[in-house]
Amino acid sequence: MEFQTQRLRNARHVVVFSGAGLSAESGIATFRDALTGLWEHFDPAALATAQAFRNDPALVWSWYEWRRAKVFAAQPNAAHRAIATLARCIPRLTVVTQNVDDLLERAGCSDVLHLHGSLGSPRCFACARSYSFGADQPVEAQEGRRIEPPRCRHCNGKVRPGVVWFGESLPDDVWRKAVSAAKDCDVLLSVGTSALVQPAAEIPRMALQQGAQVVHINLQPEAVAGDREFSLTGRAAEVLPRLLEQAFG
Ligand code: APR
Repeated sequence: MEFQTQRLRNARHVVVFSGAGLSAESGIATFRDALTGLWEHFDPAALATAQAFRNDPALVWSWYEWRRAKVFAAQPNAAHRAIATLARCIPRLTVVTQNVDDLLERAGCSDVLHLHGSLGSPRCFACARSYSFGADQPVEAQEGRRIEPPRCRHCNGKVRPGVVWFGESLPDDVWRKAVSAAKDCDVLLSVGTSALVQPAAEIPRMALQQGAQVVHINLQPEAVAGDREFSLTGRAAEVLPRLLEQAFG
């Protein structure tokens, strides 16, 4: 059964829920792609933990600065731009992402709910005060070069990336807003996520449970059930603009 695009056109409230596949066509590796170059010998899950930072702050900080440099050099793609356009076509759009990049904001989206934090909001590991990069551009860790994390201006503690690590809880207010939007929306577009990591992966299911239409956009076909869940297979930067074209002309 095909997703009827007039559902999108007539929607009162749409949620876009995204994962690393949304930024893949901007050149940002997805989380479960094999890491390349300097990091190919590391397991991202092993680096994305508070314990890894305690064990080797410079290694973890260098990895996030490498990722931040990649995002800094990247551009939003047609999928990011389509989401920003969608906000102007319907009464209410809530953008929820698992991504820690700022490509949605740079495409023109506002109030993006970052369930897993963001690369641009580091904070002190000791006192949790936020840290501002200021004009500092990310320093891409050269092969093997380690970058010591900056120090907190208040307590001199080590600054950590502003992302949610495995074993850490999601920001309360962000999670509450995302759940509320999932429970209210008419349509949820799930874009480029493997939906493996909880609790984020609950968001599309909450929308489906309350009666919304849920559309999965992924390179691989998604197993869907019932008459309100759909799978559109293809690259997000191609499928999303086409979906908007069909719905809004
Ligand atoms: N268009 C659409 N989908 C794509 C594209 C693309 N161009 N490229 C890749 N994908 C899909 C892949 O098929 C995969 O299902 O995007 C998904 C990426 O999955 P993951 O790498 O697991 O990323 P994500 O789902 O965001 O991971 C969720 O896991 O490791 C944690 O905190 C991390 O936020 C991350 C979370």
